[in-house]
Amino acid sequence: MQKNNLQLLATKDGSYTLYDTERQETYHSKFGATAESETVFLHNAGVYKRLTNQQPTAVLEIGFGSGYNFVHTAQHAMTSKCALHYTGLEMRPPPTDLARSLLKSNAPQLVALCDFTCDVLSKALPNSESGELPFDSLTTLNLVCADALDWALPEGYFDAIYLDAFSIKNNPDLWCKPFLEKLRIATKQGGILATYCVSRSFRDALTSAGYKWQKLPGPKGKREVLTASPTNTPDLTKA
Ligand SMILES: C[S@@+](CC[C@H](N)C(=O)[O-])C[C@H]1O[C@@H](n2cnc3c(N)ncnc32)[C@H](O)[C@@H]1O
Repeated sequence: MQKNNLQLLATKDGSYTLYDTERQETYHSKFGATAESETVFLHNAGVYKRLTNQQPTAVLEIGFGSGYNFVHTAQHAMTSKCALHYTGLEMRPPPTDLARSLLKSNAPQLVALCDFTCDVLSKALPNSESGELPFDSLTTLNLVCADALDWALPEGYFDAIYLDAFSIKNNPDLWCKPFLEKLRIATKQGGILATYCVSRSFRDALTSAGYKWQKLPGPKGKREVLTASPTNTPDLTKA
């Protein structure tokens, strides 16, 4: 299925992603959308562990896209019966029918959650936020439809940040010191930023923005990925 510059694409673990033909980038790893969501974000950001341990968790995602990382995370919040407050920042939401195809292919058992996500995506208005919308009594989603560079973030609020922008080539400003400083200020003490990017310039920007970082083994097809925590916080939580 192709819509504008986006098309649905099967990845090597059998799950689906979107391919942006203009930027020539996929929304998830082409080696496995589900594997990336699970390892790089849910586990490495400490969210899986927090939810399993019944710790209410606030997640910020930069690059909400189709909402698949949200669906994956909310699924675990439901299983764990733990509160999840999820904020997704997205400048250009994909067409809802494409997001729906992706979500229903990747999470066919989660009909209500996929419908909820698509409903929120379909109502997104430029330069505004949905507000904290409840999916159930434990999970809320606030979809912010705006440029992440411009949107003001609450201070010391997020336990985990999923940095899932496009690559440095296509989204250079989202991997630079000024934006990373903004993310650091929005992070709660002990919070973790997780991402797929390990480039030298990004690691240097993290250091100068006040983070300590570590490389971790990536999922299949990606040798290394990365987590980072503000330097004023204790040791990085093990994934
Ligand atoms: C790699 S995709 C994210 C995939 C997404 N996490 C998912 O599960 O479908 C990167 C996303 O970042 C968004 N994006 C790029 N620049 C942005 C910006 N300045 N502010 C907010 N979102 C941005 C793009 O529109 C795209 O949806």
